[in-house]
Amino acid sequence: MPDLKVRPTYRSRRRRQAVHLYVGRVFRPGWSPTMSKPSVLITRKLPAAVMASLDDVADVARPAGDTHADLVAAVAGKQALVSMVTDQVDRAVIEAGDALRVIANVGVGYNNIDVGFARERGIVVTNTPDVLSRATADLAWALILGITRRLGEGERLVRRGAWPGWAFDQLLGMELNGKTLGIVGFGRIGREVAARAPAFGMTVVHTGRTADSLPLDRLLSTADVVSLHVPLSPATTHLIDQAALARMKRGAYLINTSRGPVVDEAALVWALKSRLIAGAALDVYEREPVVHPDLLAFENVLLAPHLGSATTETRTAMADLAVRNVLAVLSGEPPLTPVI
Ligand code: DGY
Repeated sequence: MPDLKVRPTYRSRRRRQAVHLYVGRVFRPGWSPTMSKPSVLITRKLPAAVMASLDDVADVARPAGDTHADLVAAVAGKQALVSMVTDQVDRAVIEAGDALRVIANVGVGYNNIDVGFARERGIVVTNTPDVLSRATADLAWALILGITRRLGEGERLVRRGAWPGWAFDQLLGMELNGKTLGIVGFGRIGREVAARAPAFGMTVVHTGRTADSLPLDRLLSTADVVSLHVPLSPATTHLIDQAALARMKRGAYLINTSRGPVVDEAALVWALKSRLIAGAALDVYEREPVVHPDLLAFENVLLAPHLGSATTETRTAMADLAVRNVLAVLSGEPPLTPVI
């Protein structure tokens, strides 16, 4: 006889947990069944398992479209906003959000939110650190391997039917073993990237505030691969400009999985044209989804469409954490991962 016992699915387990959370926290003393559920605005569809837990405890709405004006129009009267890193949650949105108590960004970066203004209005802002560090570090390594072993060039060759077959000196790349990886920004993601380096025989140097950190100038002139992991702020905008690129070792590679404006793209084009560096692999851009047109023409540039955290498991965990932040704030509890 087959075992007919049905194991609870992720969806039903999550649903029960969320209901318990709601019953235990949102339905506090004084609650009556006639009270309405909190209203939550989500700017994009979330994974089904996460949606189920939210649907159980809140009235969930989506803006009519994907524009900023749609967001401004939809946020009025909502107690919580679940935003994506591509949503500009600026003064206009926050002012229109007359009932907002929490803005939960699905992303570790929150440069899309006017955090100072939200704070002035007493609105809690949360992000999703930790849960995406591994996936983003993996993607940084995919770019490091892809650019140093010329995978983009090789794939284009094969696809256009121009591959003549194996050749001794064809598409020779740079070996990682024995080389130095320079990590700019030694936070959660930077450390995850560093943790994978011994597997490839690389030595790690990094910027930061610890005794073993290097100043950026020294790191740039030491590393064979420079990987960027700083948050975007006025201090890090165009951190990698002409002067920084000129300091890099000839034959070094630049990898960016942080935020596009950390690199001055015009300066990067200049450095590539001048052959100051061997190549670049980018996951993020100054004006996404627009890519500097000159970058498209270089064989030694690998371009990915902002895929850092793009695995099913990580995106589900990010959405789940954002929703748990919303439920915590709406029930009067401290948020799990507030933006400090
Ligand atoms: C983040 O979390 O900031 C990422 O860029 C989203 O993928």
